[in-house]
Amino acid sequence: TSVAAVIPAAGRGVRLGPGAPKALRALNGTPMLIHAVRALAASRRVSLVIVVAPPDGAAEVKSLLDAHALPERTDFLVVPGGESRQESVRLGLEALPPQYGIVLVHDAARPLVPVDTVDAVIEAVRDGAPAVVPALPLADTVKEVAPAAEAGAPEPVVATPERSRLRAVQTPQGFDRATLVRAHESVTDNVTDDASMVEQLGLPVVAVPGHEEAFKVTRPLDLVLAEAVLARRRL
Ligand code: CTP
Ligand code: MG
Repeated sequence: TSVAAVIPAAGRGVRLGPGAPKALRALNGTPMLIHAVRALAASRRVSLVIVVAPPDGAAEVKSLLDAHALPERTDFLVVPGGESRQESVRLGLEALPPQYGIVLVHDAARPLVPVDTVDAVIEAVRDGAPAVVPALPLADTVKEVAPAAEAGAPEPVVATPERSRLRAVQTPQGFDRATLVRAHESVTDNVTDDASMVEQLGLPVVAVPGHEEAFKVTRPLDLVLAEAVLARRRL
């Protein structure tokens, strides 16, 4: 079955600070979105990439894709996104032609994911998992806190989940197409990743090893790290 990738790129990037929408910001001179598209199209199994553009930025994204060298074997579609990441992904799925049985969902904000990670996710879906996430062990201990008594007061710590059992989850997340479509039709809670919607359907989700370089560009320091990774790759 054919594999398509949906790349939600419609966010504003509030945490990165003022400027263009995050996906259109440059990393070493090339828009983050173009790096992300190349990272997914680098997999020989991915034959279609659907970019979900900022709502008023579809024309700009189309011309960016035309202006940058991308693999000939890959098809590209651009659709306008929505208010939430979840809505943006759903709008991307609505544009998916029928022949694609496996769908990857990949944040434009993870521009440096290595192709081996992409292929490992696809392989696990082909092996029969309805949903697959790339995941890494945590460096920091994580604590659950309760709301502070008043604004500015310290937050009470209520629990410390055992770190060795926790994973930080990245993208691309890979799905059996019908499963992901059903999840987006039936789960209406606000969620921060697609796999959790499949979990809510009661279906199994599995984790494969993620990669350090698949980190999400979220805050200004992440831009520094991303440009350093790119510079190191050119050595
Ligand atoms: N995204 C999207 N549509 C939205 C919100 C987010 O397509 N309405 C995309 C972003 O473009 C990004 C990915 O979802 O590629 C992950 O979201 P995040 O890192 O939170 O990006 P932003 O929402 O843009 O950043 P922030 O939350 O700091 O505003
Ligand atoms: Mg966001």
